[in-house]
Amino acid sequence: MRGVEQIPWVYDAMCSVMEWTGLSRWREWLVRGAHGVTLEVGCGTGRNLPRYDASLTVIGLEPDADAIAKAKRRAPNRPLVRASAEALPFREGVFDTVVSSLVFCTVPRPDVGLDEIGRVLKADGQLRMLEHVRHESAPIGWMQDTLQPAWTLVAGGCHPNRHTEHTVEANGFVIHEEGRRRDGSMRRFVASKKRP
Ligand SMILES: C[S@@+](CC[C@H](N)C(=O)[O-])C[C@H]1O[C@@H](n2cnc3c(N)ncnc32)[C@H](O)[C@@H]1O
Repeated sequence: MRGVEQIPWVYDAMCSVMEWTGLSRWREWLVRGAHGVTLEVGCGTGRNLPRYDASLTVIGLEPDADAIAKAKRRAPNRPLVRASAEALPFREGVFDTVVSSLVFCTVPRPDVGLDEIGRVLKADGQLRMLEHVRHESAPIGWMQDTLQPAWTLVAGGCHPNRHTEHTVEANGFVIHEEGRRRDGSMRRFVASKKRP
């Protein structure tokens, strides 16, 4: 489904405003904690890619061709792969860190995507997420539920009312309290794979 998220100049313009009003600090937190071999799923136009430490190996993964072309221009030295979070083209247990920012609102099958992330992460690997979710306030949550079909159409697949933290916990991960932040609909946290 094509929408605002798949038109790089529109998406970048919107992000610039959000970053200026606070999102930049959350992006910094997200990438600064990455270590070792890192995969960024749904890297979009690559807005996080220049923020990683230059010494890290970071692979960007993104299904949209226009977004990936923009990411290539933004971060020419980072390897980029055109693929989906639900079918990661990597072997088991190869990544120390997987990063996702503003992606699991859009992934069509989030449970499958999280299973795949669990598969490619090392046993002691970390999943770092910055996501927007359904608002805790009942009236705002209701509004998000009401607007969701139109929003999803215009935005290109984004769901404003997902319970992403619950989905993460229901699909093999434990969320750490340290560093966790909730602000309106915005969330950021680190999660580890549950021990078998
Ligand atoms: C709101 S954008 C976020 C882009 C970028 N992560 C950022 O922080 O600016 C959502 C991105 O998720 C990507 N996406 C959608 N479905 C996906 C999937 N199944 N697997 C991986 N990425 C997906 C979209 O193409 C889009 O680039």
